Amino acid sequence: MKKEDNMIELKNIKAGYGKFEVLHGMNMEIPRGKITAIIGPNGSGKSTVIKSIYNIADVYSGKVLLNDEDITNLQAHELIRHGVAYIPQGKRIFEELTVLENLELGAEFINDKELCETRIKEVFRKYPVLEKRQKKLAYGLSGGERQQLALGRALIQKPEVIIMDEPSIGLSPILQKDLFLMIQELRDEGLTILIVEQNAKKAIEIADKTYILENKKIREVYLGGY
Ligand SMILES: Nc1ncnc2c1ncn2[C@@H]1O[C@H](COP(=O)(O)OP(=O)(O)OP(=O)(O)O)[C@@H](O)[C@H]1O
Ligand SMILES: [Mg+2]
Repeated sequence: MKKEDNMIELKNIKAGYGKFEVLHGMNMEIPRGKITAIIGPNGSGKSTVIKSIYNIADVYSGKVLLNDEDITNLQAHELIRHGVAYIPQGKRIFEELTVLENLELGAEFINDKELCETRIKEVFRKYPVLEKRQKKLAYGLSGGERQQLALGRALIQKPEVIIMDEPSIGLSPILQKDLFLMIQELRDEGLTILIVEQNAKKAIEIADKTYILENKKIREVYLGGY
C-alpha cells in the first residue's frame, strides 16, 4: 500500500523559459481530495510550478505524475481529458462574450451537445447568479460573479483536480472570503485543489498542506512554526 494517497507528484522538476531556469529540481506531493497551497514572494516561481504541470513553462527534466501516470508535457486538451483543470492568474474569463458563451467555451472538448447542456445546468444549479445573467456579457459581472464563472467553466469538464493561480487577487475581503468558502466546498465534494496564493495567512488557514517557495527552494510549512 502507498504511504500517502497523492493525486499529483512533481519529481525533480527543472523548468523555466528558454534558457532561463526557474525551478532547479523541485519535488512536491499533492494529496488527493485536499487543498494544497503554494505561497512565496513575487517572482519566486509559484506560477512556474503550475505552468510546469500544465505544460506552459518549458520542463527540461523531471516528471509530473498524475495517479502515478507520467503526464509531463501533455497538451492542455489532453490534461483536461485527464481531469486536470487550470484557472490562470489574471484574465480568467472572456469579457466580450456572454456568460453562457463563456461556459460553452469551457465545454469545447465535450462533443455531445446534450451532455454539454446538462453540465451547464449543473453549473447553474451550483452558481444560480450565472443562470440569471447567462445572456449578459461577462464584462458586466462583479468580481465575485467573475470568479464563479471562472470556476463554472473549469467545473464543466468534471475535473478531478483544479489548479488555480492567485484566485483571490483583486477581490475585496468579503469576496475573498466567499471565494475561499467556494474552494473549501469543492474540496469537501472530493476535488483535489492546488492554489497559488498571495494571501499567505488565508492560504495557510484553508489549505490542508502548504508549501512555501523562497530563495529557489520549496518546503512544506507546518502550523506552529517551520
Ligand atoms: N514567460 C516568461 N518568460 C521569461 N521569464 C519568465 C516568464 N514568466 C515568468 N518568468 C520569470 O520567471 C520567474 C518566476 O516567475 P513566476 O511567474 O513563476 O513567479 P511568481 O512567484 O508566480 O510571481 P508573482 O507572485 O508575481 O505571480 C521570474 O523571474 C519571472 O520574471
Ligand atoms: Mg504568479
